[in-house]
Amino acid sequence: MSLEQRVVQAFERRFAASPDFVVRAPGRVNLIGEHTDYNDGFVLPMAIDRAIWIALRPRDDDEVHVHSLEFSDSISFPLDALENTKSGWSEYLKGVAWSLQEAGYALQGWEGVVAGDVPRGAGLSSSAALELAAARAFACAAPALPWAPKEIARLCQRAENEWVGVQCGIMDQMISAAGQADHALLIDCRSLETEAVPLPPGTVAVVLDTATRRGLVDSLYNERRAQCEAAAAFFGVPALRDVSVEQFRARAQALDEVKRRRARHVVTENARTVRAVEMMRRGDADALGRLMDASHASLRDDFEVSSDELDQMVACARREEGCYGARMTGAGFGGSAVALVDEDAAEAFAEAVAACYRAATGIAPAVTICTATAGAEVVAGKG
Ligand code: GLA
Repeated sequence: MSLEQRVVQAFERRFAASPDFVVRAPGRVNLIGEHTDYNDGFVLPMAIDRAIWIALRPRDDDEVHVHSLEFSDSISFPLDALENTKSGWSEYLKGVAWSLQEAGYALQGWEGVVAGDVPRGAGLSSSAALELAAARAFACAAPALPWAPKEIARLCQRAENEWVGVQCGIMDQMISAAGQADHALLIDCRSLETEAVPLPPGTVAVVLDTATRRGLVDSLYNERRAQCEAAAAFFGVPALRDVSVEQFRARAQALDEVKRRRARHVVTENARTVRAVEMMRRGDADALGRLMDASHASLRDDFEVSSDELDQMVACARREEGCYGARMTGAGFGGSAVALVDEDAAEAFAEAVAACYRAATGIAPAVTICTATAGAEVVAGKG
């Protein structure tokens, strides 16, 4: 049974009626452009066919009642007295409600059932998917809330930054809001302009989940952000986005060693991401793969956000026939890698990489051949 069918069926059991709306919002995999979003730079993610689904109907009052199939847990809260308990999946929904209301939108209550298949902690943005699905649900229940993907992405990011307390950039919310089927999305994280680019013909993205999850990711992430901001201040610019590779080379020697390496990653990664789009437009899978390989090295050596398992996974992937390139994806410190692979070789690739990784680490990975999907949408609904 599909997730859509599951949330609809669970809704019908719970409320003895059909839902008025079904919404979905996808997770994502980032092809290249890592740790560049909070430096106002470029990212190139695609929305994947793993998503959060909500079946819902509006309520007459201002209460939200939601049951989660994954957590076998029901929550409820009033929209006019939101309370932050700082734990649990309901804070993502409350945070979105808070942020939308702060922006001046009048919301209405709703009740529904949520389920999803975006693995948590795998670097595939399960939290952004939940936020965008919640925002879509609020927009269905309160038609006065227009669906403007960029604005909603910003408000969901604010929910995560200020309500949930994670200092993420804009990438995950943007791609979950604005993803396009069969395309990756180049996002300029300063202007939020986007450009849809297809993968080179005959290739697919394969997500390689190391099945390792690290603690302290938030504090390590915030430390990287602070180092980048300090490096931008050294160059006298608002963000590292404003430093070209040439400008970096000319002045980097005067930066302290750690900040120099952090900045070198961001500056070169921005250049690689822009270049990656050119290579995709040319359909040059070899060149795109080499840029992904270089991105991994830079994240491992200069930005220091890889892990032994991620390095091992990437090594296993690159050995295989049909692999153009591979790199860690997302914040790092565990989670997933992504490989660009010949479509015809993908099944054999997936099996071989899983076996290689298992033999090297003793850990069973999760390998998924992905298709690029649309961003958050109403898949069924009244009017
Ligand atoms: C996490 C954050 C994003 C981005 C990536 C690293 O996924 O949520 O905003 O910074 O890490 O590229």
